[in-house]
Formats: sequence, C-alpha cells, structure tokens
Amino acid sequence: MAQDLFEAARAAMARAHAPYSHFPVGAALRDGAGGIHAGCNVENASYPEGWCAETTALGRFVMAGGGQITEIAVVAQKMARIMPCGGCRQRLAEFAAPDARLHLCDATGVVETVAFADIFPRGFGLERPA
Ligand code: THU
Repeated sequence: MAQDLFEAARAAMARAHAPYSHFPVGAALRDGAGGIHAGCNVENASYPEGWCAETTALGRFVMAGGGQITEIAVVAQKMARIMPCGGCRQRLAEFAAPDARLHLCDATGVVETVAFADIFPRGFGLERPA
C-alpha cells in the first residue's frame, strides 16, 4: 500500500527548509518491519551545505534501527514524478534492495512505480563487512 508512504512524504515536504530554491521536497522510506521514516530537504545559506529530503529520511531510518529499505516515495509540489538525485541514489543503495519499489509522486499521489535497480543500475558497492 503506497498511499501511506506517499502521505508521509507529503507531510514531510511541509517541513522543508527551502528558502533558497523554493523547491520543497519530501521523501519517505519503508523498512523491513513496515516502519516509515520521512524527511524533507534542508537548505543552507552556504548553498552546497544543504541536503536532500531522501538524506534526511535516511538519517531517521538509521536512527530508528535501520535494516533494509523495501519501499521509497518522493514528492515535490512543483514537479510531477521527481527523481532522486545521483548522490541520494548512491546513499539509498546502501540500504535499498534492488527490487525495492520507488514511487514517483506528484502533489496528489503516486504517478509511477519503478524498481530501485531501474534508477541505479551497476552502482558502486563494496562487500559489506559481516
Ligand atoms: N532535492 C531533494 O530534496 N531531493 C531530490 O531528489 C532532488 C533535489 C532538493 C535539494 C534542494 O534543496 C532542492 O531540492 C532544489 O534542488
């Protein structure tokens, strides 16, 4: 059920700190136990120091216990079907299974669902330590 994940991402978007781009983004991740971890983008007066909604959500996911990400939703009110940026794809790949579902959303709901492997093929990865 992607609707709850979409709604968590949309609620997170309302918390965005985006006074420079005026481009609020929300992201929500579902963990293996069904828990939801949401985040917004957090910009900074020193522009490169800001970060994406997916990265905030990842921090909350790890702090809640981490594990594996099974589902992801991303929403931006000013863009239908926003795609995670390249850096966030690498960060998400640390925890997302290749068959994790990524829900691309507009302000009203899920527009398209793809597999994580579709947006991050042949990504860099090391063997994880035991
Ligand atoms: N942004 C995200 O939060 N997630 C994305 O996937 C793409 C871009 C943010 C970064 C910045 O605060 C604003 O959107 C404009 O680039």
